[in-house]
Amino acid sequence: MNKYITTPIYYVNGEAHIGHAYTTFMADTMARYEKLKGYDTYFLTGTDEHGQKIEESAKNNNKPTQEFANEISASFKNLWDEFDIDYDKFIRTTDADHKVGVQKAFEVMHSNGDIYKDFYEGHYCVSCETFFPETQLIDGEFCPDCGRATSTVKEESYFFKLSKYEDALLKHYEENPDFILPRSRANEVINFVKGGLRDLSVTRTSFTWGVQLPESMNDKNHVMYVWLDALMNYITALGYGNDEENMKYWPASTQVVGKDILRFHAIYWPAFLMSLDLPLPEHIAAHGWWTRDGEKMSKSKGNVISPKEVSDAYGVENLRYFMLREVPFGQDGDFSQRAFVDRINSELSNDLGNLLNRIIGMSGKYSDFEIDSVDVEKYHSKELDAMNIALDNLDAFMQNMQTHRYLEELWKLFAIGNKAIEEHAPWVKMKEDRKDEALATVALVANILAKASIMLSPVMPKTTATISDALSFEIDNNSYKELILGKKLLKLFNIKKVPPLFPRIEEILMPEAPKAMPDDKPNDKMKEDMKVKEQAQDDNLIEIGQFFQTSLKVGTIVEAQEVKKSKKLLKLQVDLGEETNKQVVAGIKEFYSAESLVGTQVCVVANLKPAKLMGMVSEGMLLAAKDEDGLCLVRPEKPKKAGTTIG
Ligand code: MSP
Repeated sequence: MNKYITTPIYYVNGEAHIGHAYTTFMADTMARYEKLKGYDTYFLTGTDEHGQKIEESAKNNNKPTQEFANEISASFKNLWDEFDIDYDKFIRTTDADHKVGVQKAFEVMHSNGDIYKDFYEGHYCVSCETFFPETQLIDGEFCPDCGRATSTVKEESYFFKLSKYEDALLKHYEENPDFILPRSRANEVINFVKGGLRDLSVTRTSFTWGVQLPESMNDKNHVMYVWLDALMNYITALGYGNDEENMKYWPASTQVVGKDILRFHAIYWPAFLMSLDLPLPEHIAAHGWWTRDGEKMSKSKGNVISPKEVSDAYGVENLRYFMLREVPFGQDGDFSQRAFVDRINSELSNDLGNLLNRIIGMSGKYSDFEIDSVDVEKYHSKELDAMNIALDNLDAFMQNMQTHRYLEELWKLFAIGNKAIEEHAPWVKMKEDRKDEALATVALVANILAKASIMLSPVMPKTTATISDALSFEIDNNSYKELILGKKLLKLFNIKKVPPLFPRIEEILMPEAPKAMPDDKPNDKMKEDMKVKEQAQDDNLIEIGQFFQTSLKVGTIVEAQEVKKSKKLLKLQVDLGEETNKQVVAGIKEFYSAESLVGTQVCVVANLKPAKLMGMVSEGMLLAAKDEDGLCLVRPEKPKKAGTTIG
């Protein structure tokens, strides 16, 4: 049987951020899971390159549109390659065969009587690439989705008969309660459709950056509406309208999207497919949004997290694990570094990493790195039963995209393994001459690690490959069938030493996100600021007020100590001209000795919320510059009174 998994295609108006990485990790995990189960699986991702938004972004960057799209599309592709995203195809909507496929679809919809020409008058949000009737706008002007100012559109347009599909859509939702995942999101879609669907304007005449209409329409003034063009990627990628061999993968099994684009995927997309006489996807799975330290991420606030920066600092698999474990599927999630570091240290390093180290250590000491499972069932049937129950529960969680529940359940296996070692203390049994029992516990845990690694492999493919190498077995569909479905034990392990999988993360490198202005729905002040902000957003500029929210001061270091067990941290007491000194824990040990700093002056961010680093409170941050040659502190050119304001 076939499986087809897709991500949304990403707009090429800016580099990838953590939200894009999340969608991609989710879909990649699902595709790897289906492959592990033995399905012939096709996984698609790519970039959405047409439309007014991209045309305007290219203009703002003074680049020809295609050149601009090429650069950003390549940056997405390179990032996914660096992140080992195992896609089968990376589609670009500027690909020639995609355009042919979209034109073919337009022709079919037209010949099925679903396209007609009329005149559109209404409002358009370029950022969301969405039409709105005046009644839906906030204060008659602002986009109800993103809050930005909309523009008025009056133009000739071809329309798609969306209204015709109202009943068929409602019937489909009713008969397929898992069409929209999580189920809790279905109601908003159903209510929207019940509210009445207007026919959809599917061509534009006021700009040219889009797919032309098919020759047969004999109308050169129109280009396709970007959402029609974009949604079709899911079938043009399989060759629709060209070489259709890969259309065998259609219908998609799971199409992962963010909640902001659910309406397009759960209403327009199935209606287009019905018009094309194609079957509908099995699941449209909508995830929530990521915020940072409780704030919505946006370029203008300067609090966008770059997935590349996080993965450079902490590793891409740790990032994958954190994102898929932290958030219940469908809900919004918060990217806090504290939560990230805690999860990596406690769940990956303590629960999983230590278990592997213990098995390597014990098998080396007790049985020359060979583990035989001969006595596991005799001494550990209770643990095996508990393990099998947890393993049996996993599939349902993954099918519903509940990766947090999946990982939580999987971690029960490590708890069983760690508890067995504590309870059965193999080192005591070795001394008591009960070697069989000691080795049975070691073998139980080796089997737990092997089975858990198979099931963890879609989430952490590289890490689990290291574990399987250390335990001498393969992770593939055969081992899945034998060890997971067949519940067998691995008879023999030849253990190899590997370096610790998850060295503890010691410190936080990124500062807390700056506190931002309220921004969800536009209030009066925001509306005034909106236009200025939009400009600033594109140029990545901040307003002067945002800069002055940061209190920068000259400080004199009065005490400096090394932090034991840390390669990077120094603990400093800094005089900022206040009643008491401030404690700053800084990652500068590799570049400065503690003694050399005492009595010198530095520039300090003095109004940061205190944070804990390795259990020590840090109340500020030093300004420093770092390049390939190392790091140097930023200091006043001449001595200044401690506490002098910088700015
Ligand atoms: N181009 C359209 C999709 C067309 S699919 C036929 C688009 N692109 S996007 O680049 O703006 O967004 C792509 C995906 O990233 C969406 O699923 C969106 O929900 C997701 N995210 C963008 N910002 C996000 C967060 N802050 N958090 C989580 N995901 C969010 O929409």
